[in-house]
Amino acid sequence: MVRVSRRNFLKFSAALSAAGGIVPLDSLFTASSAGAGSKPVVISTWNHGVAANDAAWRVLSGGGSSLDAVEAGVRISEGDPKVMSVGFGGLPDEDCTVTLDASIMGPNGNAGAVAFVQHYKHPISIARKVMEKTDHVMLVGEGAEEFARRQGFERRELLTEEARKRWLEWKAGMSEKDDWLAPAVNHDTIGMVALDSAGDLAGACTTSGLAFKIHGRVGDSPLIGAGMYVDNEVGAAAATGKGEAVIRTCGSFLVVEGMRDGLSPQKAIKRALERIIEWHGGGVDFQVAFVAVNRSGKTGALAIQKGFQYALARDGTNELIDSEYLLE
Ligand code: GLY
Repeated sequence: MVRVSRRNFLKFSAALSAAGGIVPLDSLFTASSAGAGSKPVVISTWNHGVAANDAAWRVLSGGGSSLDAVEAGVRISEGDPKVMSVGFGGLPDEDCTVTLDASIMGPNGNAGAVAFVQHYKHPISIARKVMEKTDHVMLVGEGAEEFARRQGFERRELLTEEARKRWLEWKAGMSEKDDWLAPAVNHDTIGMVALDSAGDLAGACTTSGLAFKIHGRVGDSPLIGAGMYVDNEVGAAAATGKGEAVIRTCGSFLVVEGMRDGLSPQKAIKRALERIIEWHGGGVDFQVAFVAVNRSGKTGALAIQKGFQYALARDGTNELIDSEYLLE
């Protein structure tokens, strides 16, 4: 049976190096964060990952595939109106329209994605249909919605009263003299990666994106290699946080390539986050975090800033864990 607990990890503030406040690589290689390699295992971002892992674990523990597990898992966050960064109930864009992005990738290297989708609650399942029913990888906007309609998905309003209220508050704080300003809220995308009993990897990533974004903005989540990436011979990774920073660095692909180079998932994430920090001039004020798993079932999770949590399910337990982070 799945249980939920919380572990607090070292903050590593004492270990900050003189050069740029970045933690030395070896100090992050703790037994807890690296995780013992076992399968099946599923790891996902943020506290809503706990309920998502629960659904994924039901698939995995019944001998199901990692692909079915990640889809079933992230659908929980998509369908929960209290999760205001994913799916139904997600915060809208500057025009008060909810637009969703999602991607999914399986062990055979096939992938599907949708972006700028309105009116459909489960973009991850539309993305899976793109993967399985077409030879395309990505559909966007009206084309994706028409595809969803033809595939039998139910069209519905995604804006909840609570999300509309938040938009009104945001709008009231804007002046006509303001340029568009990014509000200081987290991008609590759900990214999930899993290894099943057969040793196959899969990943999923789904989000309503940056709150109050410019109409038409698409982040990293639906971009294969940015928001999520799977290589069944190596490992899988998924991202959360500032999508623009992840896109610029092909973040999830970078993490998987780190594992291909022989790094543990934890060290591979650290190398990718360091690249992002360097790319943005060393002192960044935004959040990016990754979760990752390798072929042996070893997991990793790490953030740039304090505050990231992830959920890890293996051996019948499902824990919400405070992530290690790089910068004070
Ligand atoms: N990471 C989600 C986004 O930036 O849209």
